[in-house]
Amino acid sequence: MFKILFIGDIFAKAGREACFKQIPLLRKKYKVDFVIANAENCTHGRSLNLQHYEQLSNCGIDVFTMGNHTYDHMYVFETLEKADKIVRPLNIVCSTKEGKIGCGSKVFICKKRKICITNLVSTQCFNRFKTTNPFQTFEDLLRKQKQKYDLHIVDFHAETTSEKKAFLLSFANKVSAIIGTHSHVQTSDAQIYKNTFFITDVGMTGPKEGIIGAKPDEIIELFFSKRTKFRMEPATGPYQFNAVLMTFSKNNKPKEIKTIAI
Ligand SMILES: [Fe+2]
Ligand SMILES: [Fe+2]
Repeated sequence: MFKILFIGDIFAKAGREACFKQIPLLRKKYKVDFVIANAENCTHGRSLNLQHYEQLSNCGIDVFTMGNHTYDHMYVFETLEKADKIVRPLNIVCSTKEGKIGCGSKVFICKKRKICITNLVSTQCFNRFKTTNPFQTFEDLLRKQKQKYDLHIVDFHAETTSEKKAFLLSFANKVSAIIGTHSHVQTSDAQIYKNTFFITDVGMTGPKEGIIGAKPDEIIELFFSKRTKFRMEPATGPYQFNAVLMTFSKNNKPKEIKTIAI
């Protein structure tokens, strides 16, 4: 058996503290082999700096995926350049030199298993850079891939539930898992569909009492007014920890998926 824990968007300080506390406990409790976490909101709600990358790596995260907030802050370029355990969105198009740093699909090795991890972002999310169609980009990737691997885990970072379901129906049986991220709310549809683990959204690991991680006041005001912009400040207070635990058989077939919400 081989167990992968996938943690939903780590949001700011509360999210990092949730990881420091929960990851060692969960690793021990479930005998987890490999930990993946979406870290697009890790540093003050926006992107991931090198210090937080190192702290979270040390607490047991093996690979970080990202999302539409990847490029919200300049410090991400240093992280992408120096860190070797990050997979950022594959379908972001940025013609500058910085935009070419990092990769969107990469193979990692754990206990003799080769695990390919791919990160895609929907064109419907607000993205700082242009994005290509994630469905077509992924189809191209599968066609061109030469490197062999045992498992393929996809983080599909998208807003709508329909888009994520359409992605599952398009690529089930071709990948090991399609894990939805970005909405910050854990859905109750974790399942195995045609040999592929799926959940529409794994949820968020961050401040429990905010609005999907942020301090509520400005966001509530936004909904009462015609404003379209607001200043996002991470909420404080107690945390929530959202993840899924995927168990694969000896021959890498999906056996069981369990949602975790602490
Ligand atoms: Fe997020
Ligand atoms: Fe996002």
